[in-house]
Amino acid sequence: MQHQKHLFDLSEEITYLNGAYMAPQLKSVTEIGVQSVKRKAHPNEILPEDFFNEKETLKQRFATLIDAKDYKNTAIIPSVSYGIANAANNVPIKKGDEIILVDEQFPSNVYIWQEVAKKNDATIKIIKPPIELENRGKCWNENILEAITKNTAVIAMPQVHWADGTLFDLQAIREKTKTVNAMVVIDGTQSVGALPFSIKEIEPDALVCGGYKWLLGPYAIGMAYYSDAFNNGTPIEHNWMNRYNSEDFSGLTKYEDQYQEKAARYSVGESSNFVLTPMMIKAVEQLIEWQPKNIQEYGKSISKDAVQKLRELGCFIEDDAYRAYHLFGIYLPNHINVEEIKAKLKEAQIFVSFRGNAMRVSCNVYNTEEDFEKLLNCFI
Ligand SMILES: Cc1ncc(COP(=O)(O)O)c(C=O)c1O
Repeated sequence: MQHQKHLFDLSEEITYLNGAYMAPQLKSVTEIGVQSVKRKAHPNEILPEDFFNEKETLKQRFATLIDAKDYKNTAIIPSVSYGIANAANNVPIKKGDEIILVDEQFPSNVYIWQEVAKKNDATIKIIKPPIELENRGKCWNENILEAITKNTAVIAMPQVHWADGTLFDLQAIREKTKTVNAMVVIDGTQSVGALPFSIKEIEPDALVCGGYKWLLGPYAIGMAYYSDAFNNGTPIEHNWMNRYNSEDFSGLTKYEDQYQEKAARYSVGESSNFVLTPMMIKAVEQLIEWQPKNIQEYGKSISKDAVQKLRELGCFIEDDAYRAYHLFGIYLPNHINVEEIKAKLKEAQIFVSFRGNAMRVSCNVYNTEEDFEKLLNCFI
């Protein structure tokens, strides 16, 4: 894969290694967004079927991206907290059960579990990484597997850690949860779109993704997958559109107890959002064309020299087998002054994030090897 800089509108003056914070927008996505905003000036042109068609298309495209068998298991959500809450409120949890989380997860996949634990007299078990850096990712994964016991009701975690890209072996985790009948809820916000995710292979109970990072979509729209285990659950809100026969506008006050099929009940109200939905479709279609495995390969090829040199300078970057290539953490050794590095980055207009103790670097197809050379220059 070649770089795709020309499809984005990033300024040549800056080096943007911060897609994990917010992805830049594809020009094609901006374009359809502008057209879509203008569309409401002519409401007579927005037809009743438009309330349904585009959101079905978006669900289908997302299902393709995540390799899900039935697109009807997907839903449109406004945020990760919303999508996780839909799952958390419907996971059967009884007194004494354990909810497993990994250390320093993003709060949208923590607060709701604290709430659910309190309500059901359950406990939260947080699996920390080992203190030693050697084999950190490997040991962390082993500790997670070991923590899953017959007391586990659910494990709610990401595919890669948002702060430093540590990669979790979801397939092994899923296998272990099956032996104790525990559910698996995944926050895919920092991976899906840039790292392959297959529902067919991993078989999670739920997968929730914010749209504005690796899905390259606009802010305030995301996508979720809920397995058939959630087909009879209670959604966190009750929008008319998610009920059976809502396409019949003249019959809407014949209030309907039945929902539309499968996960449709979990879509946010007004999910036919006439601006964000077409933008999200465009972005996901581009990702399907590129393929996440190629994005991962591309990230690896442009960053490998810099990673090697940073390790030689004494920085810790997780073993390649236990980290992502689109997002990784650089832990600085004591002899490198973080404030000096921050000043150099600022002067060179290089954008990265600092999360926990890690400097988080995240790249995509708008980046090049030169961007990593510029980053490296701030260390030498
Ligand atoms: C792992 C992860 N999940 C979720 C979010 C966003 O959550 P929400 O959509 O609830 O604001 C972020 C944002 O940085 C994130 O990194």
